[in-house]
This record gives sequence, C-alpha cells and structure tokens, in this order.
Amino acid sequence: MTLDLEAIRADFPILSRVFPSGHPLVYLDNAATTQKPRQVIQAMTDYYEQHNSNVHRAVHTLAAEATAAYEEARITISDWFGLEPHRLLYTSGTTEAINLCAHAWGRSNLEKGDVVLLTEMEHHSDLIPWQMLAKDIGVELRFVPVDPETYTLDMDAFEATIGEAKFVGCVHTSNVLGVRNPVERIIELAKTRGNGGDGAVVLLDSAQAVAHDRLGFDAMGVDFAACSAHKMCGPTGMGALLVSEDRIGEMTHFLGGGDMIEEAWLDHATYQPPPHRFEAGTPKIAEAIGWAAAIDWLSQFDMQEVSAHILGLARHTAAELKQIEGITVYGDHEGDLGSGAVSFLHDTLHSEDLAHFLDAGGFAVRTGHHCAQPLMRRLGISATNRASFYLYNTMEEADAFVTHLKGVIDRLS
Ligand SMILES: Cc1ncc(COP(=O)(O)O)c(C=O)c1O
Repeated sequence: MTLDLEAIRADFPILSRVFPSGHPLVYLDNAATTQKPRQVIQAMTDYYEQHNSNVHRAVHTLAAEATAAYEEARITISDWFGLEPHRLLYTSGTTEAINLCAHAWGRSNLEKGDVVLLTEMEHHSDLIPWQMLAKDIGVELRFVPVDPETYTLDMDAFEATIGEAKFVGCVHTSNVLGVRNPVERIIELAKTRGNGGDGAVVLLDSAQAVAHDRLGFDAMGVDFAACSAHKMCGPTGMGALLVSEDRIGEMTHFLGGGDMIEEAWLDHATYQPPPHRFEAGTPKIAEAIGWAAAIDWLSQFDMQEVSAHILGLARHTAAELKQIEGITVYGDHEGDLGSGAVSFLHDTLHSEDLAHFLDAGGFAVRTGHHCAQPLMRRLGISATNRASFYLYNTMEEADAFVTHLKGVIDRLS
C-alpha cells in the first residue's frame, strides 16, 4: 500500500490555504510543529461543544463524560507508545516532561558529584533542566561530543564515559540534523556498563522521533522518554513523560495542589498513586482528547511507510540542495534512519533573508539556532535554514521548494 497523499492532504484544512500573493502554502516547518487533521480539530471542538467539564471531581453527566474521555485518551496514547497508562504522565510537552524527570526523579535519586551524561546535540529542553539541577544539587554534567564531519555522536567518547555516569539524557532524533541517534546501543551500554556496572538511568528526548516512530517504550528498556503531541498531528501544550516500571516508584511529587492528593490536612497530605500524583491542578483535557484523536488518525497508516515517505522527501531535498553552489547541508540524509529535517546554509546569503524570500513564495521553513546553540557552536555556525517534511508533503512540494530557492539565490547573489 502506498500513501494516498491526496486523501491525506484533504484531511488538513490549512493545507489548502492560498496566500494573497496567489502562492499556495507549502508547509515545511514540521519539525517545529505539525499541522492538525480535521479529525483532531473536530474532536476538540466536540469536547468543548458537548462535554466540557472539569475531570475527576463532580458527579454530573458532563463531568463523567469528560473524565472518561480524558482517561480513555491516556489508554489510547499509552497503547500507541507501548506502556501501561499509569506510567504515561501528561505534561505540557517535551520541555515540561524533562523538567518533571529532573525534579521528580533527579532531585531525589541523584546527589552531589553524580555524573549526568548528555550530548552536544541536545535541544535546550534536555540541557537547561540538568544545568539547573547541577547548580542546585551539584551533579556533574558531561557531554558526548558530536563529530562535525559525520554529524553523529562520538560513540567512543560515550563508551569511555558511560561507566562513570549515573544518568544519561540523549536526544532520540536531532531536530537540527535529522540524525537518529543509536539509542538501542546507548541504552544497552548504559544498562550493562553504566554507573560502574550497576546500570545508568536513561532518558530519551523523543520529541522528533514520535512523529514517525511508535517507540515501543517498554520493549526498548529505557527509563524515561519525553514527547510532545504537536509533533505528531496533535495539539500544542500537550505531551507526556513515559516512565518505566522500575522508575515510577522512585519519583517524588513535583507540583503540589488539587487532583494529586488522596487526603490533605493543614500540616500534611497523602498523595494519589501515579499518574495523578504528578498531574496537579485542572489538566489539559481537550488537548488529551485531541492527542488521542491524532493517534487514532495516524493509526490508519503503516508507520514504517510514513517514515519511508518522509525520509524519501528529506533525502531527495538534501541531495538537490547539495547541488546548489554555496549551499552546505548539515546532517547525513543517506541512511534509512532519521527524520524529515534538512538543515542548510548559504555561504553568503543570510538565513533570515532566504527565509523571507521563501515565505514570499509560500514556503514556510524555520530559521535560527533551533534551541540547540551548543550544537550550532560545534558546527561553527549560529543558525541554519531548516526545511522539515511530514507525511502530507509531496515530492512536487520538495521540488518546488528547491526550484524557488535556486531562483532566490540567483536573484540575490
Ligand atoms: C528534539 C526536541 N526536544 C525538545 C523539544 C521541545 O518540545 P516542546 O517545545 O514541545 O516542549 C523540541 C521541539 O522542537 C525538539 O525538537
């Protein structure tokens, strides 16, 4: 079966947008956020129009419907990722999920001098929470270098350090380079050789990976994975921390307030079991429902086929860009693993100028440091242009993008 792109695109109202200039939208900023099919928009609208209520509280009909939909969404999402629902902790996204890990697990299980091993490829989401923890409790941060020639992690350096690491945080798929890191090997090494042979705890930043990988969380043997709904056709402001059976019992509460306590007195309280212990306050109800709708929508496809389609577009685009004089493409797009993100830079034209001229032609691409400034420094640059593809993009769009870019460069050079 091949993907029916016409039918897929028909599900996304925004993809029919035509700008006043007459140019149709060509949306190539999917690594920042994906577009939403009408099924997701409809599920969220239906919730607000028919069922809106707070959850886990009142006994009226709407409250029961909202609670059921919210918790059924957790079952749908956890089924998709391959873990039990009570170990899928709703957060506002990857960023909050990693902060939750650092606060609720890191603070109570790491101590001064413990080595936290990260990589130079991390998004700031998987860097700053650990910097904060280092400042607060004195853990020592170390970094696996990125080879600027191959755009891959220096696995020799990883192997040399893993024995001393108690915790490993690693981006699953780079949002800048499109590279998928060898996470299976990283987990295996961490578990067998980490922490002096006792095993290190591993967190994956799977924000980009979930766009076309179901993870198989429990089967991976990883401890934590963080992800965002909006990278996989779901709503913004929604995501989760996925937690292994071994780690969930080691986590202490993070935010305190309503919905997370069993019973409260003036001077103390007892707490709900997971997941609610970690979800204080009125949660993101419509967003959970929207995320489950996104997963229901994605479930109609073979994700390997989705991934192959996205990689095909990225590979083709990267190869074409490399032919353009003055363009450097960052990342290896030859292999079968990775994502739809293609970062590039022109040697004389400023990335923002290029992006404006692309926008004038209807092409939405990202420009900037992509919240990965240490990686930018390692690559010796401060920003890239990034075109990133998703399952609704077509080869015609990829070709139109390359043609338009060539025209812009010819005009400006
Ligand atoms: C690799 C990676 N990690 C973390 C994030 C942060 O995700 P969010 O902003 O949804 O929390 C992103 C978003 O671009 C990302 O690409």
